[in-house]
Amino acid sequence: MLRKKLSVLLATAMVAAAVVGCGGADQAAAPAAEAPAAEAPAEDAAPADDAAAEDAAADDGAEAPAASGDVITVGYAQVGHESDWRTANTQNYQDVFSAENGYELSLIDCDNDNAVQLEAVRNFITQQLDYIIIAPIETAGWDTVLQEAQDAGIPVIIADREIDAGADMYDAWVGTNTKNEGITAGNWLAEYLNGEEANILVIEGSVGASATLGRSEGFNEVAAQHSEWKILDSQSGDFTQDGGQEVMESFIKSYEGQFNVVVCHNDNEAYGAMDAMKAAGITYGVDGDVIIISFDATHDGLQYTLDGAINCNVECNPIQAAVVAEVIQKMHNGEDYEATTLVNDEAFVAPGIESQYATTMTEEILAGRAY
Ligand code: AHR
Repeated sequence: MLRKKLSVLLATAMVAAAVVGCGGADQAAAPAAEAPAAEAPAEDAAPADDAAAEDAAADDGAEAPAASGDVITVGYAQVGHESDWRTANTQNYQDVFSAENGYELSLIDCDNDNAVQLEAVRNFITQQLDYIIIAPIETAGWDTVLQEAQDAGIPVIIADREIDAGADMYDAWVGTNTKNEGITAGNWLAEYLNGEEANILVIEGSVGASATLGRSEGFNEVAAQHSEWKILDSQSGDFTQDGGQEVMESFIKSYEGQFNVVVCHNDNEAYGAMDAMKAAGITYGVDGDVIIISFDATHDGLQYTLDGAINCNVECNPIQAAVVAEVIQKMHNGEDYEATTLVNDEAFVAPGIESQYATTMTEEILAGRAY
């Protein structure tokens, strides 16, 4: 059924919002994006004979089951419901993988629990679903269950985050380049501070998540080039508002008066951090003493950016389901499909800030942000 995989495809956010079946190979490359850690695997997934047989089937005019009225069964092992980003991502999958579009979607909210996520994938295998999508909570620990899916002949698409397992252990990857997101945040800070000192506190995402590892790696790479910057501390807020608030409260106890930059790995953590600073009488944002950098650029996060409370917000686009569906449709039709699809991100800064790395926020941008 599966045909050969194409090399890395860079897709824009517009592609992610497009309907199933659009030709991804024609999309413009994302500027300055590095290839994600998951590399495109070897050219041919299927032996030459199988490919020839599939060509013949394609020539016979074989339709995708969805197009012919059959239902495609899909399991999605979702991380959880930790953030507004995650809620938007879940809703996007439910919209795209709908009965109306020819799918039966089993979406399991794994509540940020690795054991639950492994069990969810094993249940999908037992149920012999047609396709499995995994948004991996952590990068580690995937080889065994991916081998089980391969043995059962069920294609797996890794979505949103990355894993340590080799690209030969799964069939396709769709997501954002989180290391680049961290680099953008660092480059923006360097441009903004223009040589001034930075004493930085970082509220990281969930431990072991590629979004956390990538953002840290990218930001730290830039920080290492600035001897005038010091990262005072870095703790996990688990991508939640409560986590962000708790970590910030403890940072304030330890470092009050010593920091001028707070980097939050997502918007929800930033909301918690702002609550903690407000309660402690610490001012932040464009008119305050502390610069806030956030990631995700959800609607509410961009509202805070437009209001000047968040200085810089680096996007991580949750609208990825149409790209995944396009890959699945191609697999189902026995067509070539993209082994790696990168969903492009932008960055936004508060009004009054001009940046070569980010767009200055406006009411129009906010009005166009649906999630
Ligand atoms: O993997 C994407 C990250 O996961 C988002 O930045 C965060 O909000 C979510 O929980």
